[in-house]
Amino acid sequence: MGRLNKQLDPTQTGIEAEKLESELRKRIVGQDEAIDQIINIYQTNLAGMSSPGRPIGNFLFMGPTGSGKTRLVEALAESLVGDSRAVIKIDCAEFQHSHEIAKLIGSPPGYLGHRETHPLLSQEVLNQYHTERLKVSFVLFDEIEKASDALWNLLLGILDKATLTLGDNRRVDFSRALIFMTSNLGAAEMGSILRPNLGFGAGEAERQYSSGIVDGKLVDKVARAGMEAARRKFSPEFMNRIDKTVVFKALGAPELRKILGLELNMVQQRIFTQANGSPFVFSLTDAAKEYLLSEGTDMKYGARHLKRAIERHLVHPLSNLIATEQVRGGDLLRVDYEPGQSRLTFFKDAEDMPAYTMFQMAGATTAPLQGSLAASAVTEIPRAANGKATRR
Ligand SMILES: Nc1ncnc2c1ncn2[C@@H]1O[C@H](COP(=O)(O)OP(=O)(O)O)[C@@H](O)[C@H]1O
Ligand SMILES: [Mg+2]
Repeated sequence: MGRLNKQLDPTQTGIEAEKLESELRKRIVGQDEAIDQIINIYQTNLAGMSSPGRPIGNFLFMGPTGSGKTRLVEALAESLVGDSRAVIKIDCAEFQHSHEIAKLIGSPPGYLGHRETHPLLSQEVLNQYHTERLKVSFVLFDEIEKASDALWNLLLGILDKATLTLGDNRRVDFSRALIFMTSNLGAAEMGSILRPNLGFGAGEAERQYSSGIVDGKLVDKVARAGMEAARRKFSPEFMNRIDKTVVFKALGAPELRKILGLELNMVQQRIFTQANGSPFVFSLTDAAKEYLLSEGTDMKYGARHLKRAIERHLVHPLSNLIATEQVRGGDLLRVDYEPGQSRLTFFKDAEDMPAYTMFQMAGATTAPLQGSLAASAVTEIPRAANGKATRR
């Protein structure tokens, strides 16, 4: 055997991982590191190299409210199994007492109400979205810093041994699950780096963030503050069971601008799939988009604030227009903004358009102001339809 000495590239990812990455990037703005970490673990799993007897991956997501922590997990489920409802969400603050823990794992036989309880974390629930080809579950524990000791112990067992014992002693296997935990811990420390209110440089960091010109050192500093907060609060045995800790970045103006584009697409999609079976198309002028951005920008609540502004200024008025039949199926609406007003204005530009014309238009009319993140939501990915991730 001759000596080959051919250099290999271990940073290259396979086609499936690559596809997943591009699906996630279409849906999630500004959190590339978090996406990379998920892709790494997914690739490891595809290659059959995950540690046996453990979940596929244990992730800890930290960072500010409204930065996409929950959305990323939903987007992952959408991309892999075609449905964001595949995510099993456990809001840790809701399981403080033992009777609430029973909702998760059921109560022991003989207990009052034993038969009526359907544990939230049974094997059936976990396997609900499994297909022939892809057997993966998504479990999200939100706000783990609020977990009671009892819940914390359950969590440690899942993270370490990939098993959970139910009230009636049945075992649930988590070895095909991706476990995500989120925590707002350290958000205050991270915020104070971005918003120092005293002394020289006050506001400068935040200005950098919202202008999108963030210097790498600042991002590192914020991330370090987050990690330190996690190490202070969580035990080493917990931290050792985490495969990846990711500190999500605060979203600045350029990210919010792209997210507006994505959210408008989603509103349009809602109209196509729900709006009482009479789809219409709307388009926003640049002035209207700018108004939504100015109403929806808030450092503290990130994209959540933007979503609220969209509901209030766009979705509610549209609903009224539908309910009063001022808008009908086949209409083309223009949504504009007059300076000095505190609301958007709505005009009908056309009516009786054929469905395919509307469908074609929707992609273009709801495109973001900048960037190329358009139209993905309107023509939903084909694999969402059959619930399977297909090979190219
Ligand atoms: N990075 C992001 N990319 C795309 N959409 C986002 C992003 N961050 C937030 N959003 C939007 O804002 C909403 C709230 O964000 P969410 O993921 O719930 O925040 P949190 O980080 O508090 O979990 C999401 O449902 C999504 O519509
Ligand atoms: Mg969340």
